[in-house]
Amino acid sequence: MMPLLGVNIDHVATLRQARGGREPDPIQAAGIVEQAGAKAIVVHLREDRRHINEGDVWSLRKTVTTKLNLEMSIAPEIVNIAVQIKPDQTTLVPEKREELTTEGGLDVVSRQQAVREVVLRLKKEGIKVSLFIDPVNVQIEAAKRTGANLIELHTGDFANAPDEITQDRQLTKLIKAKDLAVDKGLIVTAGHGLNYQNVKKVAGIDAVEELNIGYSIISRAVFVGLDRAVKEMLELI
Ligand code: PXP
Repeated sequence: MMPLLGVNIDHVATLRQARGGREPDPIQAAGIVEQAGAKAIVVHLREDRRHINEGDVWSLRKTVTTKLNLEMSIAPEIVNIAVQIKPDQTTLVPEKREELTTEGGLDVVSRQQAVREVVLRLKKEGIKVSLFIDPVNVQIEAAKRTGANLIELHTGDFANAPDEITQDRQLTKLIKAKDLAVDKGLIVTAGHGLNYQNVKKVAGIDAVEELNIGYSIISRAVFVGLDRAVKEMLELI
């Protein structure tokens, strides 16, 4: 079965923040993305609010008709906001202020108890919880122990592979990680660094239910428009 597409629209807000005004409006972007056939809207409410802000997430909660997936750290301030807004799903990610984008997966092994507490709190509110992790067995086992519903496999190493041999080695790693996660009853999704050139291999992994893609789609939208950028990605997956 084909994976569904979730589109991360953070960088629509990045562009808005470049002038601090109202456009381009991420809420309008979400509507276009859904109309084009994506099945989830993904946004990352960062602690420093560099792109998406709380008001955006509240508005998206009202307008998104597919699935609102909120990426977030486990910082108490952000968890409290998530509990109020109640997105359909949250994806717990590591977060460092100085990073350009999320680097590496959440280290669930070393933070298992803290992650577990956040997972349980969010699930109690009826919010599904995904953990963004590297395709590593011990992380998958720890993710299972936290009670998370899903995992999102970090495809960054695959996407950054300098040559095809390394890329295929990373693909094998993703497939093995997926097998273990499915075995453990976790729903598996994947994302980070996927683009129009590399997405097909990951989309071809059986039982990966959703791909979350942001930067490449928003970049392509500058040239061809958001509707077409999403549709072109859907054709590839
Ligand atoms: N999945 C997660 C958990 C992410 O943090 C990001 C980046 O915000 C993405 C997917 C999308 O990555 P990209 O923008 O490289 O497509």
